[in-house]
Order: sequence, then structure tokens, then C-alpha cells
Amino acid sequence: MKKDFISIKDLTQEELKEIFELTSKIKQSPHKFSTSLSGEIIALIFEKPSCRTQVSFEVGMYQLGGMSLSLGPEQIKLGLRESTQDIARTLSRYVNGIVLRTFAHKNILKMAECASIPVINALTDLLHPCQALADIYTVGENFRNFKDITLSFIGDGNNVCHSLLFACSKIGLNLNIATPAKYAPSPEIVKEALVFAKKSGAKIKLFNQAKEAVKAADVLYTDVWASMGQEAEATARKKQFSKFQINKKLLLLAKKGCLVMHCLPAHRGEEITDEVIDSNNSIVFDQAENRLHVQKAILIKLLGDKK
Ligand code: CP
Ligand code: NVA
Repeated sequence: MKKDFISIKDLTQEELKEIFELTSKIKQSPHKFSTSLSGEIIALIFEKPSCRTQVSFEVGMYQLGGMSLSLGPEQIKLGLRESTQDIARTLSRYVNGIVLRTFAHKNILKMAECASIPVINALTDLLHPCQALADIYTVGENFRNFKDITLSFIGDGNNVCHSLLFACSKIGLNLNIATPAKYAPSPEIVKEALVFAKKSGAKIKLFNQAKEAVKAADVLYTDVWASMGQEAEATARKKQFSKFQINKKLLLLAKKGCLVMHCLPAHRGEEITDEVIDSNNSIVFDQAENRLHVQKAILIKLLGDKK
């Protein structure tokens, strides 16, 4: 694997499978890995709020025998108090890895370029790779293999959608994406994913109507309509996305027994109804749990293999 984990596009299908195999071992017997990263320390820099990502990295690192330091935006002030370059070079002298959640994607690229230690992307405006890895792992737990399985993403063509594009196209999982035309995923990322899909056999299709995209769905997936940093657009977006809600009516158009996923946090009553997120079809909290197991595998791959 590369030094850093910034995007799923940098992983080969073999590397993805290796991460998932290690994840299964960790999930099955966590205690066997309780000293895998003893003496290792990671710094967490979160410029946006977080529940799952921050907690699962902290808990995961502790369970692997290492420790983490949480550095809030007020403390570090990336690029304001000092340059990202100087922070990267300083932290590289103290800790063994950096987990960064930031706004502009170029911030994490700069951090990775300047740090001599692994840098892990905990979400940027463009990508959320740790999320999509856990998502695909969760799909894999529910189906025998990825072939001929279709995941339909309904909503905003955002960071989560972008990372799902890379994850599905690399692993060979079909992906239907339905967004309002204005909120389609980045054409550049779609183009890259189509190249990966050609190799893996995944079928990637884009729609502007939710109904069309859910017809063949084995899994329905959604995310908030206004992401962190877009709060001012929330009211306008609510109108534009009103036909993209995952509700019982939409779920009935999908395959029987279709599973439902959401990266969380959910805005219940907007992109998803209570009835659906709390239904037996929902695997949302298995998905949240798997963030922990998958990230432990990533940490071992990036920090542990050097020993
Ligand atoms: N899904 C996810 O990344 O959740 P948090 O924003 O709470 O970390
Ligand atoms: N798209 C959402 C994902 C949250 C995990 C956001 O960026 O806020």
C-alpha cells in the first residue's frame, strides 16, 4: 500500500480484498490484535464535527495497543496559526500517523506530501474513503459476493458518493446514482470510476430520477442533502432534493428485501424517513460498527507493516 490513505482510487482490488480479509479477522477476534500497534501514536485533526470517525479511530487505536491524540481545529488552526507544511513536519517527529478531517481536498494532499508518516483521510469536501470502505465491507457481509449486486445511491453526488464510485468500481459492485442534475457527482471522478469499472466488471449508471435508479437495487444508500459546510444552503437544497427521499414508497420499487444504508448522521424526515431507517431492511448501525473494524485494518496496514 502507499504511505497514505487518501482515496480508494489509490488501492488495487487485491489491496481492497486484503483490507477486508484483515477486517474480518479483527472483527472475529479483536483480542488477537490487542498489541498490534503497541507504542504507536496517531494525531487526529478534525476541522469538522464527527461522532463515528473520531470515536472509531480513537477506540480502534486503543484496542490495537496504541494511543491517539485529538487535536481540535482551535488548537491546530491548520494554515492559520502555521502552515500545513510546518504542522506536517513537526507532527512527523512526534507521532506515527495523522488522521485528518478537513474542508478542501488540497489540504490533505499537502499534509500527505509534507508528512513523512502515513496520513489518513477522515473526510474532505471531495472524498470520504474510510466510510466507503466500511460500506463495501458491510455489503460483502450481506451477500455472497459483489457480482451482480446493485447498490443505488439516492441524493447528493457528494464526498460519500464519490468514494462509493471508487469503491464499487474497484471491487466490481454495480452502482446506480440518482441525483438532481445540479448535484451530480464530479464528471472527472465518474470518468475515472468508469475506467476502473471496465476492469472489475461493475456497471455504473447515472440518473436524475430516484425511481429509475432503484428498480434493480439490492441496496439503497443515502446521505444528507446538505453536507458539513453547506448549512447555509440547507433550505434551498431541501426543495431541490424533495423527490430523492428514501421512504417506504421508494423502497417498494426496489428488489424484495432490499437493504438500506446511510453513512450517518441522518436528517430523519429529509433524505430518509424514520420508518425506513428503523425498519428491518436497515443495516445502518452494522455499517456504523464496521467503521471501527475496517479502520483498525487500515491502521495496521499503514502503521504496523513497517515493523
Ligand atoms: N459517517 C461519519 O463519518 O460520521 P461522523 O461525521 O460522525 O464521523
Ligand atoms: N456528506 C456528509 C457526510 C457525513 C459523514 C458531509 O460531508 O457532511
